[in-house]
This record gives sequence, C-alpha cells and structure tokens, in this order.
Amino acid sequence: AYSYDEECDYLFKAVLIGDSAVGKSNLLSRFATDEFRLDSKPTIGVEFAYRHVKIGDKVIKAQIWDTAGQERAITSSYYRGALGAVLVYDITRRTTFENVKKWMHELREFGNSDIVVVLVGNKSDLTQFRQVSEEEGRNLAESHGLFFMETSALQNLNVEEAFLRMITKIH
Ligand code: GTP
Ligand code: MG
Repeated sequence: AYSYDEECDYLFKAVLIGDSAVGKSNLLSRFATDEFRLDSKPTIGVEFAYRHVKIGDKVIKAQIWDTAGQERAITSSYYRGALGAVLVYDITRRTTFENVKKWMHELREFGNSDIVVVLVGNKSDLTQFRQVSEEEGRNLAESHGLFFMETSALQNLNVEEAFLRMITKIH
C-alpha cells in the first residue's frame, strides 16, 4: 500500500470529506502550512497538499486530497488508493452532522475496506452557535468504530492531533 519517495520512507494518500463549508480546506491549510482564511472560497475540482511527519525514525509523507462538499462527479478516483479519511462536520450546523451517515455510505462504497477514518467536528471556537454536542459526536464515532476529535481550524485547536491520529494509525 505504500510507495517509495526519495524524501521520505513512506508516502500515502488520505482524503478530506464532508459537507460544503464545514472547513475542510482550512483544516488542510492549517495542517500543511499553518494558514487560515476567514474568506475562503468553495474548493473547485480537486486540490491536495503534502506534509512530512516523523514517526519514530521514519519520515512519512502524507498526501491529503481535498474537494468541495458539493463535488459529486469524481468519486471513485478521489477515493482510489486512500488509506485514510478525515470526515468533517460543522458543530454549528446540525445538517452537516446528520449527513455523516451519507459520507459513511460513500466511504464504504468507494473507499478501501480498511481505510482509517477520523470523524472531526470542526469550528469548536463557535461555542455560542453550537448545535451538536461533543458527546453526540463521540457516540456517533464510537458506533462506527471511528476516531473522534473536535477541532478549530481558526484557533488551531486539535488540527494537528486529528491528522496525526490518522497518520499514526495507518503507519
Ligand atoms: P467546500 O470547499 O465548499 O466544500 O468548503 P470547505 O469544507 O473546504 O470549507 P472552508 O475551509 O472553505 O471553510 C468554510 C468557511 O468556514 C470559511 O469562511 C472559513 O473561514 C470558515 N471556517 C473554517 N474552519 C473554521 C473554524 O474552525 N472556525 C470558524 N469560526 N470558522 C471556520
Ligand atoms: Mg474546500
């Protein structure tokens, strides 16, 4: 499942999924280059970013793919070869949490059967607008056997931890 790369010991692909505007692109830019944009536009097509991570004495190069929550045309190529997925909802919009079921179906249909999934409730900084409790998120993750974490791409809370949890598990 791993391929060789000169700068690292392992290279693997992971995907970001979840409804529109939940913060996928900002989570990725925070993880890859420590950037955040309040005025970010919906993603068009497929983008990806890399980040090198040292685990023990090995250097892992994570290639993380990102597409718009609305983009439905590229599904099978998007998931192809992915060893990990970060499934994101927005804690201030309940519908994005309800749609986690839909994303899990898509993952089962198109993803590897052993794909490592982290469920992420993003925008934890917006406490006054919260519509999904942390406990609900954790329970849903447990019922599907997923890792779980609430994050804030804005405040850089748990972003690194969420990606690293996936990466270490794959490794
Ligand atoms: P699509 O590409 O359309 O699927 O959206 P996306 O999931 O990539 O969302 P994006 O990262 O573009 O963020 C959408 C909006 O939410 C932007 O205005 C971001 O600034 C904002 N946003 C993202 N993460 C956070 C966060 O942790 N907290 C707050 N307050 N806003 C956030
Ligand atoms: Mg995006």
